[in-house]
Amino acid sequence: MATLHAAYALLSLAPLLVVSDPPVVYTQPEQVHLSYPGVPGSMVVTWTTFNSTDSLVEYSPWGGRLFDKSAQGSATLFVDSGSEKRKMYIHRVTLSDLKPGSRYVYHCGSEMGWSDMFWFKPLDDTSTSPSFALYGDLGNENPQSLARLQKETQTGILDAILHIGDFAYDMHEDNARVGDEFMRQIQSIAAYVPYMTCPGNHEATYNFSNYRNRFSMPGQSESLWYSWNIGPAHIISLSTEVYFYLEYGQELLFRQYEWLKRDLEEANKPESRAARPWIITMGHRPMYCSDDDQDDCTTFDSFIRRGRNDTKPPAPGLEDLFYLHGVDLELWAHEHTYERLWPVYGDKVYNGSTEDPYTNPKAPVHIITGSAGCRERTDKFNPNPKDWSAFRSTDYGYTHMQVVNRTHVYLGQVSDDQAGKVIDSIWIVKEKHGYDAWL
Ligand SMILES: *[C@@H]1O[C@H](CO)[C@@H](O)[C@H](O)[C@H]1NC(C)=O
Ligand SMILES: *[C@@H]1O[C@H](CO)[C@@H](O)[C@H](O)[C@H]1NC(C)=O
Ligand SMILES: *[C@@H]1O[C@H](CO)[C@@H](O)[C@H](O)[C@H]1NC(C)=O
Ligand SMILES: *[C@@H]1O[C@H](CO)[C@@H](O)[C@H](O)[C@H]1NC(C)=O
Ligand SMILES: *[C@@H]1O[C@H](CO)[C@@H](O)[C@H](O)[C@H]1NC(C)=O
Ligand SMILES: [Fe+2]
Repeated sequence: MATLHAAYALLSLAPLLVVSDPPVVYTQPEQVHLSYPGVPGSMVVTWTTFNSTDSLVEYSPWGGRLFDKSAQGSATLFVDSGSEKRKMYIHRVTLSDLKPGSRYVYHCGSEMGWSDMFWFKPLDDTSTSPSFALYGDLGNENPQSLARLQKETQTGILDAILHIGDFAYDMHEDNARVGDEFMRQIQSIAAYVPYMTCPGNHEATYNFSNYRNRFSMPGQSESLWYSWNIGPAHIISLSTEVYFYLEYGQELLFRQYEWLKRDLEEANKPESRAARPWIITMGHRPMYCSDDDQDDCTTFDSFIRRGRNDTKPPAPGLEDLFYLHGVDLELWAHEHTYERLWPVYGDKVYNGSTEDPYTNPKAPVHIITGSAGCRERTDKFNPNPKDWSAFRSTDYGYTHMQVVNRTHVYLGQVSDDQAGKVIDSIWIVKEKHGYDAWL
């Protein structure tokens, strides 16, 4: 009894005995992820530290003398807008002169701390048949597809991952700690293949600042809109959110639209189409969907599809722009379901033929893939879809896409609920690309 009493007495003194906390330094790199800057033979490595350090990547070809190359970049200070005004340093290093075909190993950080060792295959700009996993709406909680994606990434079958908006749920929450935790979760995929993104509505808080600061997409738009080439494809990433968050600047909507127009004109030049016959877009909110909610895509006058006439000047939508410039394939998310559409334009179906709707389709093909898994679970479908709805599933999962060659693209839907079963797949076959292909 006495000894116990004495112990309590000591314990109660404990706070008085602590003079000061030992200094804590946070120089260990974390949240490592890759992105492709659009320049052949290069790769960007991005990571976070909580104290200021150098920004170094040491790397070497797989099987060579470890870390015999090194590249330096820089860090930007990101101050989250939450009440704690948490500070973090986002480091970016561009590796260049990489040789396609051979794998590289790397680690990143500084003399104050190094990351684990990761590997990647440089993107081969002229690669014949790039393979992708694509999805939207993946959260920190209930990330159903993540384990399967980790394993696929580690087996080396993917060239890149496209995350079509809505991350973490939400990156800004708990003073951006949810963003930190999510970026740690995806390190196991994003440190191995370029993780290419576009913003969704869940990134909107504080003017998309967590999104703009944490990712490193090509171009000068802070990752909001950009395009890049891989093999036979030109891939355009855009922000559908500029149609909804006018308070952050209506001019962003018009700036993006002008940029899209110029980018599409460039991609349609005969020499561009000859090199990259496929034009593929990705944006978060679809222009069509048959979900049972009140989202924009459920309305005939979808802002994304038809634009807005309550702005001055009126804001043009994207359907005509994409149709007139012969966009082949449009990838969307936001609805927590998977839906494939027959070739569609102006709310009407334009099959290639009744037997082979996707062989020489007469309008763009749309895929909605927003069921990777998040705390909001999955959505419900409207029981009476329109004619353009071809296949629907409420299973958790993600999509495989392979741009096989100049004429063939494969799409397959992987169900996580059904142990990785491919529950839907199509081939888009096009002998001709561009606007003339519709005629
Ligand atoms: C290191 O980061 C922590 C956490 O942000 C901060 O409290 C501390 O002041 C920083 N130390 C230095 C030397 O910058
Ligand atoms: C929001 O961020 C964009 C991109 O940096 C910027 O152009 C815009 O001016 C910002 N809007 C506001 C209201 O700060
Ligand atoms: C303006 O937009 C609304 C809703 O999107 C639509 O009902 C209306 O027909 C449009 N008006 C004009 C003049 O385009
Ligand atoms: C398009 O093709 C599908 C599959 O053959 C068919 O079910 C659908 O009715 C077709 N739609 C039109 C409008 O031809
Ligand atoms: C393109 O890929 C398809 C599917 O694998 C194949 O049938 C076709 O022959 C290929 N075309 C060329 C020109 O290689
Ligand atoms: Fe969304």
